[in-house]
Amino acid sequence: MFEEPSARWYARPAPRTPIAHPSAPAAVREFHASLSGYSPTRLVELPDIARELNVGRVFVKDESARLGLPAFKALGASWAIHRALSERDTSTPVTLVTATDGNHGRAVARMARLLGQHAHVFVSAGVHPAAADAIAGEGARVTRVDGPYDDAVRRAATVADETADALLVQDTAWPGYERVPGWIVEGYSTLFHEIDDQLAAAGAPHPDLVAVPVGVGSLAQAAVTHYGGSAGRDSALLAVEPVAAACVLSSLVRGERLSTATGRTTMAGLNCGTPSALAWPLLRDGLTAGVAVTDEQTARAGRDLAALGVSSGPCGAASLAGVRAAVRTEDRRAALGLHPDATVVLLSTEGTAANPHHEAYEQ
Ligand SMILES: Cc1ncc(COP(=O)(O)O)c(C=O)c1O
Repeated sequence: MFEEPSARWYARPAPRTPIAHPSAPAAVREFHASLSGYSPTRLVELPDIARELNVGRVFVKDESARLGLPAFKALGASWAIHRALSERDTSTPVTLVTATDGNHGRAVARMARLLGQHAHVFVSAGVHPAAADAIAGEGARVTRVDGPYDDAVRRAATVADETADALLVQDTAWPGYERVPGWIVEGYSTLFHEIDDQLAAAGAPHPDLVAVPVGVGSLAQAAVTHYGGSAGRDSALLAVEPVAAACVLSSLVRGERLSTATGRTTMAGLNCGTPSALAWPLLRDGLTAGVAVTDEQTARAGRDLAALGVSSGPCGAASLAGVRAAVRTEDRRAALGLHPDATVVLLSTEGTAANPHHEAYEQ
């Protein structure tokens, strides 16, 4: 019999306070729309999953093909690099430096190539060799770090500091390093605006629940900013993390930003040990609940989504796994305000092509 430790679930004890945080500028959407290869990714309705979860309608945002890459991350990297370079003299190329669990590094490397810049990407130990090869295939210099994601971030920051003409493009913030990650979070806003338009076109109401896969929490920060309680937009927000790397869940339980040890997981993009310092106050005040899921749970979700025609890598499928775990008891349903007519949106943040760990689906 499977026993679930309490640290796999957290629900805020009190209704959340509306988040008074400026929404992302309209210029972000205009910028993305101007990029060659931009088109909104699909929002797919899943009636079978709605029946299973006993809710009204379920939609999945399918990020398996975003700006020519198999994950959502290029939305943030493209806008942040555009903003950062617009402040510099770019007559000589700069080196864009970053650390990654996979997808962000590939997005930075791709942008560097398109813009005629250099890229140096530090990959952490858990990154699949094929994912590292994909980054090198974009023309980036790749350095493997023999340690977890947090170590790779420290290495990248040190090297960027010591290198002339380097620009650190990191998707997590710490005290003193906030501007670039702030732009990355702004970049993610396009995904949520697309969902608004697509739900309206489908005749669906505003979502009652949005499930977000979480690594350092920057994407969840963008979700809180978008749905943060302004009139008519107060959706419940569920953060989903791997059991092996639940730094936001642990921080929510303790009420303070904590670093946690990370382990092995197929959800490579979520294998992070420290919440972003910029994201944390918004996550603390703006998330409705957090849940941690196992690799087996996401593998099952990934197979079920594939059967419904949606390519979803382990990080992307975590959303469905998380909602399944969250509808299991009446207490959890109530914490999320789920009712039989509720509309649920799952963010599937990567396709199977983004994360070679999906091979585990077959086992
Ligand atoms: C596919 C995928 N989903 C979700 C995330 C989580 O984003 P964040 O680290 O902003 O929480 C990542 C991060 O790299 C990712 O690659």
